[in-house]
Amino acid sequence: MEIIIKATVAEAEQEVAAIMARQVRLKPSCTLGLATGSTPIGVYACLVAQHAAGGLDFARVTTFNLDEYVGLPADHPCSYRAFMREHLFSKVNVSPKHIHFPDGTASDIPAHCAAYEQAIRKAGGIDLQLLGIGRDGHIGFNEPSSSLASRTRIKTLTPQTVKDNARFFGSEAEVPRHVITMGVGTIMDSRQCVMLATGEGKADAVARMAEGPITADLPASILQMHPVCTLVIDSAAAARLKRRDYYNWVYENKPLWQRTGTV
Ligand code: PGA
Repeated sequence: MEIIIKATVAEAEQEVAAIMARQVRLKPSCTLGLATGSTPIGVYACLVAQHAAGGLDFARVTTFNLDEYVGLPADHPCSYRAFMREHLFSKVNVSPKHIHFPDGTASDIPAHCAAYEQAIRKAGGIDLQLLGIGRDGHIGFNEPSSSLASRTRIKTLTPQTVKDNARFFGSEAEVPRHVITMGVGTIMDSRQCVMLATGEGKADAVARMAEGPITADLPASILQMHPVCTLVIDSAAAARLKRRDYYNWVYENKPLWQRTGTV
């Protein structure tokens, strides 16, 4: 796992946006896996700015979002469709027919989840998956104890995640208890994973994920087994890492041709 520590949140966001923009330039018809939550908002703002400046074309890009709440219609302001519309899709030229979300209103959820997996396969798989991490170590909405081989399915949120996400809804009571999420195995099938984590509230999960044992108790730890995974964090989220100096050393000595600015 490559670990990039930036001094500020803004620099970390720019680094992740640069990695994503590089992917789109290298393969204009790429498939991106996208994430929601507070963390990626700044990344999307960077991508929007690059698009507005004429440097980034999403016309041939296909997207699959990680997750969606069960029971929320697409036009609900707290749905992840609404989130993505607000922060990215209404501001860049992704074709609506290339955008995919789990459908939290599907009448047959298992059949819908199987169809979502099939759609990802049909699109050729995910080239680059953007990820956040929950304070409990979830990726997507794969909460602790999720099978590390899991596929897209329904999950029940932990009380902690319900509490964490209440800020979007107004109260805990309004947060749906169930979600549809890509599985850990689905995420691991992506050709590249890029995780952004910022703030001291994520420092413990980040340290356990990168330097602790691989365990379903912290689903993000499976990313240690991913062949092409980059973790980008600000200094607050890096606070509990033991090998911080080494990660900085690796980054400073990165060969020029591997740097994101080169494409
Ligand atoms: P956050 O969520 O960006 O809102 O902290 C991250 C996550 O739950 O994956």
